[in-house]
Amino acid sequence: MNAITEHEGAMQAALAPQGDGEVLLSIRHLNKSFGGLKVTNDVSLDLRAGIVTTLVGPNGAGKTTLFNQITGHLVPDDGEILWRGQSLIGRRHFQIARMGIARTFQDLRLFNQMSVEENVLTVMEPVSWIWQPGGCAARQQRLERVHDILARTGLATKARTRALDLSYAERKFLSMARIMAADARIWLLDEPASGLDRSSYKRFLGLLRSEVAKGVTVCIIEHNLDIVVGISDRIAFLDQGKLLADGLPDEVLKNPHLAAIYFGDQTS
Ligand SMILES: Nc1ncnc2c1ncn2[C@@H]1O[C@H](COP(=O)(O)OP(=O)(O)O)[C@@H](O)[C@H]1O
Ligand SMILES: [Mg+2]
Repeated sequence: MNAITEHEGAMQAALAPQGDGEVLLSIRHLNKSFGGLKVTNDVSLDLRAGIVTTLVGPNGAGKTTLFNQITGHLVPDDGEILWRGQSLIGRRHFQIARMGIARTFQDLRLFNQMSVEENVLTVMEPVSWIWQPGGCAARQQRLERVHDILARTGLATKARTRALDLSYAERKFLSMARIMAADARIWLLDEPASGLDRSSYKRFLGLLRSEVAKGVTVCIIEHNLDIVVGISDRIAFLDQGKLLADGLPDEVLKNPHLAAIYFGDQTS
């Protein structure tokens, strides 16, 4: 760990410019412990408009826990999370979602007994926790939007299929379809491509790129190197709750200390 700690200074010094987009989300000195285990350790990170930031790090590094604190599913012990200058601390998860921050879950959390179409349509119901202002549209417009999203996610022929009856890859794409319906300003994607076969993750990468090109800001937790390299503007590297690096993909991935941590735990 000493070598890594020493290297942290060098990494910080070598930080690349982050671009000049608006800072949408600013995390400042965030801390969270479970019992004696510090799972978020003084993490500070800015997510700027139009920038794709990939959160990488071994299993248990605290990536999902960081998302959970941003989205109000967990309350930080201390520190600050600002969304366009407004504090998110103390807000409920549905309030945060409605401010324009949408997420997917590692375990997907689909409505298993509902059809694919209903799963996407529910995102646009005002009672939905993920509901966004775009959900005001008339039902017919909403349905057209759903079908457009299903076409883009490769689920057009599955509109009436129960989520439960989809294949693994189709379930992952349905999770993406739901977030695409949300009209959110930023997407927090928790391992959306994990376990996908090669052709599916290439399709996923194409889909994500086209959504990013339309202006959505993305923070994605991902292990698949093809996706990490293929989509990231920046990489933030977490290990044992600490942010060890935040920089351009080349800088972070070519860092031997970080590579040792990353590749030493690829299976987790
Ligand atoms: N609700 C919880 N209670 C206790 N420990 C937790 C809880 N959630 C996560 N953890 C622990 O926090 C650490 C970080 O977990 P997590 O954020 O899920 O890691 P990652 O997403 O990077 O794999 C792990 O050691 C995990 O066991
Ligand atoms: Mg996780």
